Amino acid sequence: MDSPAFLLLALMSAGTLLQVRSLDTVTALYGETIVVPCNNGASPPDDLMFTKWKYERDDGTAGDLLVKQIQKGEATVQATDDYAQRVSIADNSSLLISQGSLKDERTFTCMVVSASNLMEFPVTVVVNKKPSTPEIMDKAEMLEKDKLTMLGTCIVKDANPAAELTWTKNGQPLAADGKAVVVSPSVKVDPATGLSSTSSTLQYTATKEDIGASFSCLSTHLLAKQESTPEVFTIHYPSEKVSLQVLSEGPVAEGDNVTLKCHADGNPPPSSFNFHIKGQKVLVENSDSYTLTAIHRDGTGEYKCSLVDDEKMEAAQNIVVSYLDLSLTPTGTVLKTVGDTLAVKMEKDASGEAKVSWTKDGKAAKAPVFGELTYTDAGVYVCEVTMAGITRRQSFELVVEGMPVITSLTKHRADDAQHKVLTCEAEGVPEPIFQWSINGTHEESSYRNGKATHKITVTPRVNLTVTCSVTNRLGEDVMTINVSSLFKEDTKFEGSTEDAEDQAKLIVGIVAGLLIAAAVVGLIYWLYMKNSRQGSWKTGEKEVGTSEESKKLEENNHNV
Ligand SMILES: *[C@@H]1O[C@H](CO)[C@@H](O)[C@H](O)[C@H]1NC(C)=O
Ligand SMILES: *[C@@H]1O[C@H](CO)[C@@H](O)[C@H](O)[C@H]1NC(C)=O
Ligand SMILES: *[C@@H]1O[C@H](CO)[C@@H](O)[C@H](O)[C@H]1NC(C)=O
Ligand SMILES: *[C@@H]1O[C@H](CO)[C@@H](O)[C@H](O)[C@H]1NC(C)=O
Repeated sequence: MDSPAFLLLALMSAGTLLQVRSLDTVTALYGETIVVPCNNGASPPDDLMFTKWKYERDDGTAGDLLVKQIQKGEATVQATDDYAQRVSIADNSSLLISQGSLKDERTFTCMVVSASNLMEFPVTVVVNKKPSTPEIMDKAEMLEKDKLTMLGTCIVKDANPAAELTWTKNGQPLAADGKAVVVSPSVKVDPATGLSSTSSTLQYTATKEDIGASFSCLSTHLLAKQESTPEVFTIHYPSEKVSLQVLSEGPVAEGDNVTLKCHADGNPPPSSFNFHIKGQKVLVENSDSYTLTAIHRDGTGEYKCSLVDDEKMEAAQNIVVSYLDLSLTPTGTVLKTVGDTLAVKMEKDASGEAKVSWTKDGKAAKAPVFGELTYTDAGVYVCEVTMAGITRRQSFELVVEGMPVITSLTKHRADDAQHKVLTCEAEGVPEPIFQWSINGTHEESSYRNGKATHKITVTPRVNLTVTCSVTNRLGEDVMTINVSSLFKEDTKFEGSTEDAEDQAKLIVGIVAGLLIAAAVVGLIYWLYMKNSRQGSWKTGEKEVGTSEESKKLEENNHNV
């Protein structure tokens, strides 16, 4: 250190300054390198000897930082304090201070010394720091309607200068009124770093309109505008309305399970309710429903539910229980004999107009009224009564029994003229069993509605008296018919007789065909015709016979 510059330095320390510029200000960012320009970056004079940076200590005295001599080219750090490690000089003479902090907010002076001049350029450094993102802490679990509640505290940390906080609801700023909305701001400075943390506590009185509203906190700082994550709060409010619902598909009918459901519009909804069932108060906990099982017709009336903590909050519903009773006599299986009578009694008791319908064997029918029972009366009778969705059904099965009675025994020549077909018809229930005194072929039988028909085909070789007998467990009936032989010895009469008979049948058939409804009359007519002809022509064939006679004939047949 032997240069004349040193002499000059000593001179300057004594305060012989030639020129001092007005104060410039440089704004730097916290933690980053502070660049302090010398003379706003203007080119140094041509006869520059050296550039020196110094700073103003907290107590106002000057402290040396570094000096850069033109001859040496390299800068010499003169600082002995914290700055010794942090300062350097750029090619353009700017002072570089690494890791800027609030302690660097002071005045730095650049001294430019040339052979002809000495100039000083003081620069004030300001260090700014962007705060952390605002965060809402100590959030309320829920807000209670009409009650000032601490909603939360918004915090932004480590800023310079201090950030400002505002609260917003649905994006709109919340104005503190000191009553319903109370905002308490505060700023704290960290003694070590000098950085400021701002907090703001919001106390808020919620209304029902605040359901779903989003609250957030806005931080305003010259380096950034930042917003917290929006928060939505549950809002609790008491019930203002209670309603009662009757859960039932369609009108309530006796025997139904009816559920009463109570609803209150508060939040949270009440967990318990009082149900007023026929003048009795029932407390239901942890449910909003009460079920009336198998409701009785006496259950018609008013039902209520109310809040447990406020019994004046109540709702009522009327329930009308419709009912329908049906009583039918007789029911089940009824066994009757032909000619008996049967009284049918149907009684109904209903809460409204009921519709009665009857079916017999599945087909719509009139209500049964029986005189003397016949086989056609037999069947399954169902009575159905309906009203307002309720249906009641009762039934009985009528069985009409009777011992068999032969209604006709007839004969006619088969189409091939070789055989005779005998037809025995009888009525009776249970089904009669047919027995003939002669063995036939091509047996055919049918049984319907108590009417049985049995046909056999025979080939009589001699004149015969044939017996048809019918039996069931109630009795029996017998009828005989004379059948003449189909063979030579009787051809003389047989032909004409049988032809006449067939003609008669044909006539009867035509008559019967024309008068279907009068078929029975036709049958009687035919029987009459036949008997009278047989009598007048003396064919010897007579239908009426006794069992004795038939037995004799049978014996004869065996002998033949
Ligand atoms: C001087 O140099 C430094 C570092 O190279 C740079 O950051 C700064 O902007 C320069 N200043 C001027 C005024 O050119
Ligand atoms: C009918 O046939 C049976 C055998 O099939 C016989 O035993 C019976 O005697 C016959 N009766 C008459 C009446 O011919
Ligand atoms: C059968 O009856 C007819 C009358 O219907 C009579 O003329 C005939 O002689 C009888 N035959 C026998 C074998 O009895
Ligand atoms: C059947 O013939 C017998 C004689 O063989 C006679 O006694 C009887 O009266 C006749 N019956 C009828 C219904 O014609």
